[in-house]
Amino acid sequence: MADQTSPRREVFSTRIAFLLAAIGSAVGLGNIWRFPYVAYDNGGGAFLVPYMIALLTAGIPLLFLDYSLGHRFRGSAPLVFRRIRSWAEPVGWIQVGIAFFITIYYAAIIGWAGLYTVKSFNKAWGDMPEDYFMKDFLQADASQTVSTEIVPQIAIALALVWVLAIIVMAMGVDEGIGKISKVFMPLLTVLFIIVVIQALFLDGAAEGLNAFFTPKWDALRNPTVWVAAYGQIFFSLSVGFGIMLTYSSYLKPRTNLTGTGLVTAFANSSFEVLAGIGVFAALGYMATQQNVPVSEVATSGIGLAFIAFPTIINQMPLGAVFGVFFFASLTIAGFTSLFSLLEVVVSAVKDKLDLPRKTTAVSVGVVMALISLALFSTTSSLVTLDIMDKFTNNIGIVAIALIAIIVIDWILRRTNEFALHLNAVSSFQVGTLWRICVVNLTTIVLGYTLMQELFTLVSKPYGGYTSTQVTIFGWVVLGIIVAAAFALTIVPWRGSLSLVGPPGSDFGIDSDLQRTITRPRKYAPEERRAAGFAAEQKSDD
Ligand code: ALA
Repeated sequence: MADQTSPRREVFSTRIAFLLAAIGSAVGLGNIWRFPYVAYDNGGGAFLVPYMIALLTAGIPLLFLDYSLGHRFRGSAPLVFRRIRSWAEPVGWIQVGIAFFITIYYAAIIGWAGLYTVKSFNKAWGDMPEDYFMKDFLQADASQTVSTEIVPQIAIALALVWVLAIIVMAMGVDEGIGKISKVFMPLLTVLFIIVVIQALFLDGAAEGLNAFFTPKWDALRNPTVWVAAYGQIFFSLSVGFGIMLTYSSYLKPRTNLTGTGLVTAFANSSFEVLAGIGVFAALGYMATQQNVPVSEVATSGIGLAFIAFPTIINQMPLGAVFGVFFFASLTIAGFTSLFSLLEVVVSAVKDKLDLPRKTTAVSVGVVMALISLALFSTTSSLVTLDIMDKFTNNIGIVAIALIAIIVIDWILRRTNEFALHLNAVSSFQVGTLWRICVVNLTTIVLGYTLMQELFTLVSKPYGGYTSTQVTIFGWVVLGIIVAAAFALTIVPWRGSLSLVGPPGSDFGIDSDLQRTITRPRKYAPEERRAAGFAAEQKSDD
């Protein structure tokens, strides 16, 4: 691989490879089981209004910002923030820390989905899917904070997930992530469309769709609905915690960033709405079979995929086929997001210590796999996962997105520089509106969301768990992320901090463009032309 012998940064060989990897990152567990119940809980059809507003005012603008950060400063999150200003490096490491903890539990859900794909063939969960999932499958014991009792089948599945993830990471950005996305994304699309079509033909599908799409307009007056919409967009689009920033650092210098961002965002949202349609058509069927309203069968999160779906599969014609396709979709969607989460960590360690890709992928992967196995293959996994998911998402992602905006704009006043960079290389131009969205609107919304979440979580322990459980897997995890970020900043850089590569190379940034970095707020006409340099070059792909 090129990076083993030269200082060149890896690149996605084509724009389509990057696009599929970025869409693969965005489309994940968040789309298939999170979106449908979040939408349903927050006003059904009316949720689509705040959802679209959140997409247009925060999701897409921040996706552009992430792309421009990674592309302009061509590095992992800590390297990008270090290159912006040396004291900003911990911001990048906090993003890496959040990705680290999300990755270790995300892998566990993929392991479950993989096992359920196999179990769908003979509906191994029997007549009581809920009992099976909690008692036989997870052997969940909520009374234990840290259990050492391993559940063998979960341990084996989780180990396999890690082996595959490490292999893909070791193969590299283009050979590994790029190539596998080219196979997984079309496969996922076909499988999931079959699932949705099969669901739409079920008895009662219309009841489910009615429940999903009937707008409860009152919900729009509830601030929680708006907070939920912004939270969903952030998690689902993978913005704000280093993923898109890292991926875009592997793009060739002359790549249309905003055009690619728009395709990524709309593909992700289309998949999300499709998932809502498929899931609610199936829930409508379940409600009709049980003669109850859809609201009674619409459960949230983990329950929806691993309890409600097996129940539906038991009752429907060709249930086994539906089950295999549904859980295979969940597994594939999860994998492509897992690669992107893991790459945030691998890329940061690789940049900081100047290690070869394979060495970094294997060492980082093995350490993370061991922690993941220790926490999520035991009987206490469900509690750990639920608390870690809540804190890293609702506090971690929101807080770091807000901190990054405060650092980049309110303190360093560098937002215009990113607008200039985006416009220099892209087809769709950004301007004042983009700035208002990124800086003003997002700061207000994220600030409000964060305050509200903190208030709720401090006033009573989350989810009815003991305060020890919530403290360890919630607050202590956040503390570790922040402490580690500062500790890792102190470690000296062995990798290059210079941004300027040899003339005409795709390593670093050419010196004309570099000049706009040193004087970010004053753009003389010749500097604008210099920034436009990139756009004038012929695209490589
Ligand atoms: N964006 C990923 C998801 O939706 C993390 O699951």
